[in-house]
Amino acid sequence: MTLQIKNLEEYQQVYAASVADPEGFWAAQASSFHWHKPWDKVLEWNFTDPDINWFKGGKLNISENCLDRHLDTRGDQVAILWEPNDPEKPHVTYTYRELHAAVCQAANALRANGISKGDRVCFYMPMVPELAIALLACARIGAIHSVVFAGFSAQALADRIKDATCKMVVCSDYNDRGAKHIPVKSVVDEALAMGCDSIETVLVHRNTGDSVQWNPGRDKWWHEEVPGQATSCPAEVMDAEDMLFILYTSGSTGKPKGVVHTCGGYMVYTCFSFMNVFQYQPGDIYWCTADIGWITGHSYIVYGPLLAGATTVMFEGVPTYPDPGRFWEICDKHQVNQFYTAPTAIRALMAQGDQWVEKYDLSSLHMLGSVGEPINEEAWKWYNEKVGKNRCPIVDTWWQTETGGILISPLAGITPLIPCFATLPLPGIQPILVDAEGQEIEGNDVEGLLCIKFPWPSMLRTTYGDHERCRQTYFAPFPNRYFTGDGARRDKNGNYRIIGRVDDVINVSGHRLGTAEVENAINQHPGVVESAVVGFPHDIKGQGIYAYVIAGSPVADEDLFRKEILDVVSREIGPIAKPDKIQIVSGLPKTRSGKIMRRILRKVASGDTSNLGDVSTLLNPEIVEEIMSGAQS
Ligand code: WT7
Repeated sequence: MTLQIKNLEEYQQVYAASVADPEGFWAAQASSFHWHKPWDKVLEWNFTDPDINWFKGGKLNISENCLDRHLDTRGDQVAILWEPNDPEKPHVTYTYRELHAAVCQAANALRANGISKGDRVCFYMPMVPELAIALLACARIGAIHSVVFAGFSAQALADRIKDATCKMVVCSDYNDRGAKHIPVKSVVDEALAMGCDSIETVLVHRNTGDSVQWNPGRDKWWHEEVPGQATSCPAEVMDAEDMLFILYTSGSTGKPKGVVHTCGGYMVYTCFSFMNVFQYQPGDIYWCTADIGWITGHSYIVYGPLLAGATTVMFEGVPTYPDPGRFWEICDKHQVNQFYTAPTAIRALMAQGDQWVEKYDLSSLHMLGSVGEPINEEAWKWYNEKVGKNRCPIVDTWWQTETGGILISPLAGITPLIPCFATLPLPGIQPILVDAEGQEIEGNDVEGLLCIKFPWPSMLRTTYGDHERCRQTYFAPFPNRYFTGDGARRDKNGNYRIIGRVDDVINVSGHRLGTAEVENAINQHPGVVESAVVGFPHDIKGQGIYAYVIAGSPVADEDLFRKEILDVVSREIGPIAKPDKIQIVSGLPKTRSGKIMRRILRKVASGDTSNLGDVSTLLNPEIVEEIMSGAQS
């Protein structure tokens, strides 16, 4: 059985032991799973190449550990409880036995359509049970899934399909999300018209039933391919270090990169962290509101909870539809015990007034979680008082797509809470702070760049197709350390408070975007010569996007120009990347070496121009005045 820490003293002992003997600690955790063959070596690593191997030589299949392993003990317990977008429609449940059968059928259908071990399968799907089913089906046959959030544009989808040379896309016809009826299949068609030559099959789940264009040689209906298949399917025996999935995420430069996670370590860590952070008990109903298009959904809707034998709620809709009470209505209706959401959702609901949350019985809640961005004190307090009624611990969980699982967080009800602090590292996690030169900053009550100095099982192994980029981004900045890209404080008792990104990455409603990525999209507008994008504080989104744009010729209709830029960004990336503010400028502040002074742009964007610092060394100091006077409010 996976260790579940029960009190603070035990946490301290386990933490100390996990650092003193990481291999012994993780071997003990790994032993609770089903392995076809035990590992030869628990850990082999270097952060130079980097080359990280957990449970090398071990053979397993993660879908067997999510499903088959539970059939004898909890086959009739609900594994997935699906709540539809429309509250008038019935919810759907899959017991572990039903889910096992459904996954086997989907796995057989994938095999029948030519998918085998190592092939990449792209997902562009709304939050329907078939998404979770098909992910597990991929894992069962050793295919590598690459989920693309269904809010991304055709262009972004095409970029990701090509980067991973996917053989199949799994999608739905349409998506009902809130009051919106969103075409899905047609976006896939559009993406595939952009030269995704590797795609052989598009497997289409009929979700809303509205008509779609059909490409007979290529397109297959889920309901024709899947239900007739056998309900058992031998699992592919995978090496612990075989790839499980790719998930694209933004960085400070270039196009998003495909973060690669592997089977064994990811399995061990997502289960361990799930059990300990959320303190899940048998019979509990656990709900994470994330979308499976992000890492939170992978690790804490699908894999972690199912590995732990939990009942995991999957919600198709949005927090504010049909009204801002929807989350609380679902908590009440299904008697949710653990609730995990993002600060941006909390702030958006808080802004709608307390009456929505007061309407429902939330007495089933045991704990609350937060993820994706720093949670501000006001939102923390509201969450604690109005949702948790001052009796539910709030776990502020810090982690990243690259870390695979939660690294720094309270354990609910076990370790102490401090509002706005992610607090303490999980067992096996060794965070440190370094200065700009990479010198470790020791002691407490200090601030620095957050690094991790020892491997953990669910860390990324590479970036797909470009190992050098992985090295450059995460391991080259500070030799022998994994660099997170975040700044953090450590208080006098060793608790961590995450400050935010120190690189050119912004966090908009918990979604990560690279400023360079947004600039590249803006620059696709033929009238744009150059642009610079920065984040600015935003009440609901955490950060908003502020774009400074230089036009090639005088702009006659500024509103039209702005609208065209928004359209270009929607087309290149998706609506989530649309700038909140666009300022048309005649130049950008640059250093003599031609580098944009983003510090100045960030200050102006935040509305604080009190202390711009020395601008006299700029190549074009006169531009600062213009930028300040034209600031968008
Ligand atoms: C970045 C990772 C991890 C799942 C969702 C986001 C920020 C994440 C917290 C938190 C402060 C946080 C960091 C991190 N972040 N959680 N609890 N407190 N900041 O995953 O898209 O890979 O983004 O999100 O800046 O580096 P992601």
